[in-house]
Amino acid sequence: MRKNGLQVAIDGPASAGKSTVAKLVAKQFNYVYCDTGAMYRAITLKALQAGVSLDNVDEISKIVKSSKITFAPSNDGQRVFIDGDEITQEIRQEDVTNSVSAVAAIADVRKELSDQQKQIALNGGIVMDGRDIGSTVLPDAEVKIFLVASVEERAQRRYKENIQKGINTPLDELQLEIEARDYKDSHRKISPLTKAKDAIEIDTTSLSIEEVVSEIAKVVKNKLN
Ligand code: DC
Repeated sequence: MRKNGLQVAIDGPASAGKSTVAKLVAKQFNYVYCDTGAMYRAITLKALQAGVSLDNVDEISKIVKSSKITFAPSNDGQRVFIDGDEITQEIRQEDVTNSVSAVAAIADVRKELSDQQKQIALNGGIVMDGRDIGSTVLPDAEVKIFLVASVEERAQRRYKENIQKGINTPLDELQLEIEARDYKDSHRKISPLTKAKDAIEIDTTSLSIEEVVSEIAKVVKNKLN
């Protein structure tokens, strides 16, 4: 085992419940939680704020190489900073959500962020969620989970989260956005969303958060024993 414990990789499509579940698993084992989607979102936000077009690969590659993304733990998971400025809320804005897949498809962006993610996870004791963690970033992770849920259920979950934040996007629009993001994330050339061969798939459509956490915790405990 690594110095601080296991590497737990949790992958799956948009809004499958990865971050909610990953945070709780990390808490239970006193592991660090790392939301890799937040890193892709941070670069997307910086590009949007700088008025850089999303097809300007050279400019976005420069941004990823010259930016410093950092995290700090908080009660509800993780605060996110870029170049020292907090962007925890801003990276959840709809414009970022709808632009991030294009940025995540850029080779230099993936290379740079995956290298940083490998470094963060080096000593274990980590729960990392994303799209390619089990397949590409941490191929030797002791625990690999692939969470799925029906697109209708994922749209419902996003809808409820949005309402709590005061955002009122219609359900059918959210469903279309999720389908579009699924398509882009699964069809990009470099490390697309895929289930690692040795990952355990959990369909969360009709499971509660507690049930999913408890299934994953069982797998982690098994590996620890
Ligand atoms: O999990 P999320 O919705 O915050 O992720 C935002 C985007 O980042 C998602 O559309 C795909 C991309 N992503 C990725 O390509 N690889 C990861 N490891 C994590 C996220």
